[in-house]
Amino acid sequence: MKISGKTRVCAIIGDPVEHSLSPVMHNAAFKKLGLNLVYVAFTVTTKELKDAVLGARSLGLLGLNVTMPHKNAVMRYLDETDSTAKAIGAVNTILNDQGKLIGYNTDGNGAMRALKENGISTDGKKMLILGAGGAAKAIAFQAAREVEELVIVNRTSGKAEKLAEVLRKKFGNKVKGGALSVEVLKEELKTADILVNATSVGMHPDVNMSPVPSDLLRSDLSVMDIIYNPLETKLVADAKSVGAKVVSGLEMLLYQGAIAFEIWTNCPAPVEVMKRAALNKLAEQGVHH
Ligand SMILES: NC(=O)c1ccc[n+]([C@@H]2O[C@H](COP(=O)([O-])OP(=O)(O)OC[C@H]3O[C@@H](n4cnc5c(N)ncnc54)[C@H](OP(=O)(O)O)[C@@H]3O)[C@@H](O)[C@H]2O)c1
Repeated sequence: MKISGKTRVCAIIGDPVEHSLSPVMHNAAFKKLGLNLVYVAFTVTTKELKDAVLGARSLGLLGLNVTMPHKNAVMRYLDETDSTAKAIGAVNTILNDQGKLIGYNTDGNGAMRALKENGISTDGKKMLILGAGGAAKAIAFQAAREVEELVIVNRTSGKAEKLAEVLRKKFGNKVKGGALSVEVLKEELKTADILVNATSVGMHPDVNMSPVPSDLLRSDLSVMDIIYNPLETKLVADAKSVGAKVVSGLEMLLYQGAIAFEIWTNCPAPVEVMKRAALNKLAEQGVHH
């Protein structure tokens, strides 16, 4: 790419950020569309967060992605936060709109778009979400808008119950929380249409672990695992082997990035190019199918 006096910058801030897939995904997209933009990664410690955000505004950066551990703390330095990000309590994308910093959360929408782009409709469906951490919360807020019934289960059941209670106030009685136990899974999976693993169970190096016993999976269940290392988790492999539709964590990563790209550029994201760039980077890092 040609860097000129008019090149604008987008960046990811977090700690650590060196292994982030966002720089390759976004730079591939900028190149594909011939946009005069460049995307870099900045390691920012908690102590430096405020200066980094104010600096981004002073330097006229176009956009930021925000990752661990700043997704919540960054909110206090923004001029506006969109209602979904506010409700979730986490921002992963910032737009610098002519000096006004606006925060968004594209994780939940990214997960829902990953399902739809893979032929899984959420309308009228029952979804079971495993986990009640940051990612689960973002997905649950978006899912609650779309599905007929939402059940959230977590190892620490109180966290799932609390999240469900918050969602019930907004979306009514279709949301329920509970424990991540074999008994509960057995019961809930009888009637679930979509299963989303938003726990870290099955993530590298524990690749032989799955949060769901394989005999509870069915061919008419759609399964999304948001873990992308490995690209195919044990849960996804088990689901595939019973003939279920599956969606990998790379798809969520891709679409949360695609939505951020669209917020910054107002152009439809070239998702195939972004996906190829992410897959190449993962392969370089030793993550394969
Ligand atoms: N594809 C994407 O775009 C994307 C985006 C964000 C995150 N992720 C992935 O999603 C996973 C969760 O991320 P997060 O940010 O939500 O993390 P987090 O806030 O730390 O939450 C972790 C979740 O996993 C559960 N958990 C951890 N170990 C467990 C175990 N041994 N048994 C049962 N449950 C367990 C936790 O339960 P407790 O509450 O009981 O501890 C909690 O619900 C990570 O693997 C991350 O890489 C993917």
